[in-house]
Amino acid sequence: MHFRPPLHLALAGAVTLLVSACNTGPTSATDAGPTGDAASGTPTFSEHIAPLVTKHCRGCHTKGGIAPFAFDDYATTKTWGKPSRKAIEARTMPPWGVDASGACGTWQDARWLTDAEIKTFGAWVDGGMPVGNAKQTMPVLPKPTTLGANAIDVPMPIAYTPKPKGTKDAPTDDYRCFRIDPKLTAAKYVTGFEVVPGDPRVVHHVLLFSVAPKAWPATAGGKFPSNDAVMKHLDDLEPDRPGWECFGAAGDDVLVSGLPATWAPGTSAVHYPAGTGVKLEPGEELVMQVHYSMADVDAATVKDLTRVRLELADKVERQVYVVLHDPFIFKLFTGLPQDSLPPGKAKVEYPWQATVKDFNFWIPAAAGTTFDLVGVLPHLHKRGRALNLSLQQGEGKPKVCAADVPRWDFDWQQIYFYDKATRIDAETRFHVNCVYDTTDATAPVMAGYGTDNEMCLFALFLAKPASP
Ligand code: HEC
Repeated sequence: MHFRPPLHLALAGAVTLLVSACNTGPTSATDAGPTGDAASGTPTFSEHIAPLVTKHCRGCHTKGGIAPFAFDDYATTKTWGKPSRKAIEARTMPPWGVDASGACGTWQDARWLTDAEIKTFGAWVDGGMPVGNAKQTMPVLPKPTTLGANAIDVPMPIAYTPKPKGTKDAPTDDYRCFRIDPKLTAAKYVTGFEVVPGDPRVVHHVLLFSVAPKAWPATAGGKFPSNDAVMKHLDDLEPDRPGWECFGAAGDDVLVSGLPATWAPGTSAVHYPAGTGVKLEPGEELVMQVHYSMADVDAATVKDLTRVRLELADKVERQVYVVLHDPFIFKLFTGLPQDSLPPGKAKVEYPWQATVKDFNFWIPAAAGTTFDLVGVLPHLHKRGRALNLSLQQGEGKPKVCAADVPRWDFDWQQIYFYDKATRIDAETRFHVNCVYDTTDATAPVMAGYGTDNEMCLFALFLAKPASP
């Protein structure tokens, strides 16, 4: 039997081209099992679904990958066909936080199925999930990209055996921070990064913060003279276990100065836009936050030694400033009355707005007020449901959507880099709106770094514009 692209798929143009371009095997063979009917337009596994799951799913759903099952063959893909269709249509799989439909920013390496691809998968399930050409082998999975050999290794100081928290909100999770001294004697710029999980079965996300040991953490109310003292205190809380518990950032009272790298499963090497990089000051240290998720693994068998690899340059054309702005949590640093989210409500909103001048903690005045917004990292905790960033280029101008997270998922966090940066200046106003569900809370939800607190943070990656 010969398989032609069904008519409606041929009409879907680009999708069909893409799909057939990835298709490596022969186009005809003897029948085996349900084969699909080209005349009625039912997509088949061999021709349509195998390339689709290879492109969008098998980066994680493959043997030895992070996901709990592998789309490496027809049988498994068929078993998971119906739940997969649901997850694809709900856009919960593949995991990707920001809307990439084109309605609100376009993104580098977006994990995003086109509407036509979603339809194809649905039509395959509706058509009885035919195999098509059963003799055809699976398309080869592309190798993940890695950094060059000049990248430096920044490993956790010592292997760690995670311990599930066993609480209601984190039954099989452990959030742990590890202090790492990269021993920088001169300023360096991070131009790219890569995370190599020690045990990919359990490492669910990694956030890498920069921390100045001598900085003074105002949140501690004078209890600690320096970040160094805070981190020593946290490390001493559990002397028999490396690192300390942390959730929202680098741990209670640790004042962070930047976020040079983030990682979620399925992400390979990441490069900052050409010519740009994030500065690390001499003496600055790093705190690696690792989220361990042990739903399917006996934690006692784990000895994780996750490494971050950093590509460092002595100088860059354009420095990237990492702004971690969150007026909700910043009130902890001031003597002002705290805001809180009312408990017992299905929808609570926390809006804020700011201009570059409000980012003076993160950007020295000498850097000016004109930048290119090259990337964002949205961040809420477990009661977060959605958040959104829009930009207004001056008083009375329309607000333009810049990043929209319609279904916030704490378990999937990463920096999202734009395909095309947006120029901002002193007149630009950043509008952020965070949405929460507080139905399970019995007391007002306060800002903070713990599992029971909330944040309303957008990390903004602002590059100095190229000189004209
Ligand atoms: C970036 C990694 C990654 C990619 C890409 C990915 N998945 Fe997943 N998937 C996971 C992980 C991890 C889980 C386990 C549950 C969790 O941790 O969220 C999962 C769980 C699932 C589940 C079961 C739970 C649910 O949400 O229904 C389905 C179905 C699924 N994935 C389908 C898919 C399909 C179909 C694709 C491609 C279109 C895909 N996934 C792409 C990582 C990924």
